[in-house]
Amino acid sequence: MKKTIAVLPGDGIGPEVVEEAVKVLKIIAKRFNHEFDFQYGLIGHQAIVKTGKPLPEETVNLIQNSSAILFGAIGDPIYDNNPNLKVRPEQGLLEMRKVLGLYANLRPVKVYSALIDQSPLKKKIIANTDFVVVRELIGGIYFGEKGSTENSAYDTCSYSVEEIIRVGRVAFELAVKRKNKVTLVDKANVLETSKLWRKTIQALHKDYPDVSLEMMYVDNAAMQIIRNPSQFDVILTENMFGDILTDEASVITGSIGMLPSASIGQKTALYEPIHGSYPQAVGKHIANPIGAILSAALLLDISFNLKKEAKLIEKAITNVLSKGFGTCDINSVDPVSTQELGKLIRDEIKNFS
Ligand code: IPM
Ligand code: MN
Repeated sequence: MKKTIAVLPGDGIGPEVVEEAVKVLKIIAKRFNHEFDFQYGLIGHQAIVKTGKPLPEETVNLIQNSSAILFGAIGDPIYDNNPNLKVRPEQGLLEMRKVLGLYANLRPVKVYSALIDQSPLKKKIIANTDFVVVRELIGGIYFGEKGSTENSAYDTCSYSVEEIIRVGRVAFELAVKRKNKVTLVDKANVLETSKLWRKTIQALHKDYPDVSLEMMYVDNAAMQIIRNPSQFDVILTENMFGDILTDEASVITGSIGMLPSASIGQKTALYEPIHGSYPQAVGKHIANPIGAILSAALLLDISFNLKKEAKLIEKAITNVLSKGFGTCDINSVDPVSTQELGKLIRDEIKNFS
């Protein structure tokens, strides 16, 4: 198979973790006789510094002409507490999601048995956690009309039936392949948009008779995710609730550095770890590359339908973790570096016969 992969390392630890993911993809290509052409592009703070824009045209061209996108992280501390800087790195990511029509963001949350003691939550609570959050990604309050004056500001949340249906289908279809359960998370006791979500998803449910549909208010869901996470299979929710709940859910896995994501939609799909740019860690070789490497596995699985290759990466990670290896976020006693962990995973892949 011959494919072009756009690689957008971005800011902070993005380049470090993405490099480990690219190296894993190169090993996979070699082993299975695929040809992956990696084309690098600028996004975020790096792009602002070099071009004045968080998503330069060149990058837009690149992502539109690639088969899949691997992305690192975005953001820089110089923008914190500096609301006067009008151009922000995050705009690059939001624009990219919009340009590509990436309306569904899939964030799997799974516990590795080797890491079960790394979570601050009790073992008996998190055992058997295995769910996916399907977050709507290009609507809601992130993209609604907004504005501000000296003394006031507003952001609006709006959703159309079409926007809800297309991401709803992704959730139901995923549930069919998993444990046949969808939990719609909303705030329908207060918000008009949530009432529309409920009505629309309940109607859509008729197309998926084998799937059970449950409704949950977001405040309760925030509690249930850490009280009894194994009750969930597919959580479907709007943009901002999904953003917040997936950071919370990452605690179950022991580290936010472990979680990958896939953003799918109308055109090329995008794969990225859910963690941020973690500027304090830059250059220290302590960032966990597993979220990025698992994102590469999702890329092979979803965009290229290379299931065997994706499974191999996942298995290699499970094995390396079982042997006790980990970066300092998951192994505080005897941590390995970002690069060492990447190499251990690659060696594991090479050793599978
Ligand atoms: C995420 C991030 C982004 C978001 C930011 C960087 C705009 O937090 O991917 O979860 O809020 O969607
Ligand atoms: Mn987030």
